[in-house]
Parts: sequence; structure tokens; C-alpha cells
Amino acid sequence: MSSLKYLLGAAVGAVALAALTVSASALTVGFSQVGHESDWRTAFSKSMQDEAKAEGIDLKFSDANQKEEDQLKAVRSFISEKVDAIIIAPIVVTGWDQVLKEAKAANIPVFVVDRDVDTKDTSLFVCRIAADFNLEGRLAGAWAAQALKGKGNIVELVGTVGSAAAEYRRTGFAAVQALFPLIKTVKSQSGDFTTQGGKEVMESFIKATDGLKDIKLVWAHNDNMLLGAIQAMKEAGLKPGKDILTVSVDGVPDIFKMMLSGDANASVELRSDIGPDIYAVVKAYLGGKKDWPRWVVIPSDLHTIADAAEVLKKKGG
Ligand code: AHR
Repeated sequence: MSSLKYLLGAAVGAVALAALTVSASALTVGFSQVGHESDWRTAFSKSMQDEAKAEGIDLKFSDANQKEEDQLKAVRSFISEKVDAIIIAPIVVTGWDQVLKEAKAANIPVFVVDRDVDTKDTSLFVCRIAADFNLEGRLAGAWAAQALKGKGNIVELVGTVGSAAAEYRRTGFAAVQALFPLIKTVKSQSGDFTTQGGKEVMESFIKATDGLKDIKLVWAHNDNMLLGAIQAMKEAGLKPGKDILTVSVDGVPDIFKMMLSGDANASVELRSDIGPDIYAVVKAYLGGKKDWPRWVVIPSDLHTIADAAEVLKKKGG
């Protein structure tokens, strides 16, 4: 090889390698977040912001305050700003096709995180990076079935209607419950994933059931609704965690504190520190790794009083 050819070959190799290891500091990423409705959501936003800072990514962060129209507006403004990638944590599963087509037409890759979309055209987003909400519901259902010894009435605090987190958790729990015909859901209502919503719904359950008479367990689609429900039960002179068992999802520090004080029993942990996992996929995609599974799964697991102190310590609580 002549020295000129050798030099050219080396230069082409270097360019190819650089293309595969895209520099984070050169990236502008738009992130449309659901809102700040729960402690889990706030921790997840922090993870996304902290990691962007650590990586030198220019993050355009938009909090949709649980309003679907704000979320669509944010995505359209990321498109007009010509960001390198768009990350969406969708509030509800429906209504995404049009804006995803607009991002595709602008050649901007989209990554769906946390909740799901019902879009059938797989070319409209690269992949979803998220926990298995159905599994979370099944883990909660299995714990409930065991704790109730296969028998008892329960009440359900549902998350945001139309969100994947509420729908898949509900389906997962119901699948296990179907194996135990003596476990019956007597009340079920949405508290919109908020502490206040959970409190208000539980107050109405308490009124409608003569003080939760014959109710053995509360199943809440997230910890914050349960935290509100615990407050309502205590104000009504009831003993959550003892007379009324509890199971929920998220694993936020306050729920472990409730377990340690005997007011809550079990929670399925949804990891919130997933900023690094998400940006790793985005950076690799932009660097040339285009083949991703449709769903990159983040693991979830169940915690009880048995490991509450240990988990709380790990979370710095
Ligand atoms: O989508 C995940 C859910 O959204 C969390 O479980 C809940 O706390 C949040 O509001």
C-alpha cells in the first residue's frame, strides 16, 4: 500500500469509528415527561436531568403536567428545533401516530420510555425502554393472594385512565386474581396516580362501605395513591397495614417508611434511576447501532417489611 493510500485508509477508519461512538456533548435531546404527579416521576425526571448533565447532553426538558395536548405541543417544538433525538414518556397510549409521523418526516428518531403507545407502525419509533407493568400487577396479585390466603374483598386505586401503567398493571393483577374466585374487587376507581387523588377516592370508599367493612386489602397502582389512602384510613380510625393489608407499585422511600411503621405491607419497585439506561440506547443508536428489540425491559421486583430497611437505606432514606 502506498503511504498516501495508507493514510487515506487510516482516515476512513477513524471517521467510521467516530460515527459509531457519537459524542454526547454534541447531542441535543428533547424529553417530553408526563408531569410530576408522583414521587417516582420526580425521581425519574431527576435521573434524566442529572445524567444529561453528567454526559454533557443538551436536554430540552418539558413537563406536560399530565395534559396530553401539552405533550403533543412539546414534541412538535422539539421537531421544529431540529433536536438529534426525542424521548417521550407518554401520558396515555392513544393519539400518537400523527406526531410520530411528523418526527419521522423530519428524520428525528423517537424513543418511547416508561409508558407505552398503541402505535402499530413500528417504523415510527426506535424502541420502548420500560419496565413490565403487567408483571408488576401479577407480582402484586400474587402477594395479595398469598396474604389473603386466597379469600377476601379488596378495593383498587386505579392510576391515570388510558395510561399503560394503569391498564397493564390492572390486567396483570386481574390475571392472578382470576385464579382465586374468592378474592373479589368490590370498589375500583381512579386516583390519577396522585396522593390527593388516592386520599379522596379512599374517603369515598370508606363512606360507601361502612368504614371498609369486610374489606381486607387495598391494591393501589402506585405508592402515592396508597400514601393518600393510608392518611384517609387513619383519619377514619382504621389500621392500614394490619386490619387492611396494602400492596402498591413504585417503591418510593415513603412507602418503605410506612412499612417500617407498620402502616403498609408490600410494594413492587419500579426503578426510577433509569436515565443512564435510556441515554445509552439513544447514544448507541445515533452512533450507528440501529437494531434494537422493540422493548428494552427494565426489571421490577417486590419488597416487603422483610427488606424494607435495607432498600430504604440504599435509597438514602
Ligand atoms: O408510568 C409509571 C407510573 O407513573 C408510576 O408508577 C406512577 O407513580 C407514575 O405516576
